[in-house]
Amino acid sequence: VYKVAIATSFGNRSMRLFTTISGLRCYLDSYRFRRHNLETVGSYLDGWAIPLEIGFVPTMGALHAGHLSLIQRARRENKIVVVSIFVNPLQFAPTEDFQRYPRTLKQDQTLCEQANVDALFLPDAAEMGTATQMANGEWRMQNSELRTPNSELRSRSVSVDSASRRVGVTPNFSLTQVLPPSTLTSELCGRSREGHFQGVATIVTKLFNVVQPTRAYFGQKDAQQLAIIRRLVTDLNLPVEIVAC
Ligand code: PAF
Repeated sequence: VYKVAIATSFGNRSMRLFTTISGLRCYLDSYRFRRHNLETVGSYLDGWAIPLEIGFVPTMGALHAGHLSLIQRARRENKIVVVSIFVNPLQFAPTEDFQRYPRTLKQDQTLCEQANVDALFLPDAAEMGTATQMANGEWRMQNSELRTPNSELRSRSVSVDSASRRVGVTPNFSLTQVLPPSTLTSELCGRSREGHFQGVATIVTKLFNVVQPTRAYFGQKDAQQLAIIRRLVTDLNLPVEIVAC
């Protein structure tokens, strides 16, 4: 049984809003597995299911011209365009202000509608499985507190696998995470934003699994993020084409 999807209509074109994974999957599957009448190709093909091309633009909202150019390209190249807006707590370091990240949902919705987006995915932290980390503060501890002595952590009732600490692996706590190779994360932005790309890789992998897009669109200006996402798609054999623009 699927949870009910929240769907609203905007202007001339109907853009659907989903807050649940099951709702979005239900909507996409209804297209993905739709059978087509291919009269123009020949009756022997009637009723064949044609692979649906889904273009996906993952964002954290506060949409600007850069996002819009990704969405426009996705619109040109795919049958269905999905945009997600999720301010991902996993990619914020303790010193970075997750709470104060700009949230302009109404305006973002209007922009997506104007850009002919088919589905806007707006999960909350509980839906994306990051709520536990936020509630008990684990997501804040992942980077900064792992370097504190075990005795101190024990006094705060935090258990840390010492073997993991020795080899510099961040323990997973209650969420399975994707750890990109340190050769890609230790330089440039990764140097000052420890744990940032692990948070990005984890949430992007989750979003790819939810949407199962044909193509996903990322800005070229975030070159390090792009390289890490290309690598994770290769290493984890994810069936998605990464388009940089
Ligand atoms: O580039 C961004 O906006 C974010 O890092 C992304 C890819 C949406 C993951 O949260």
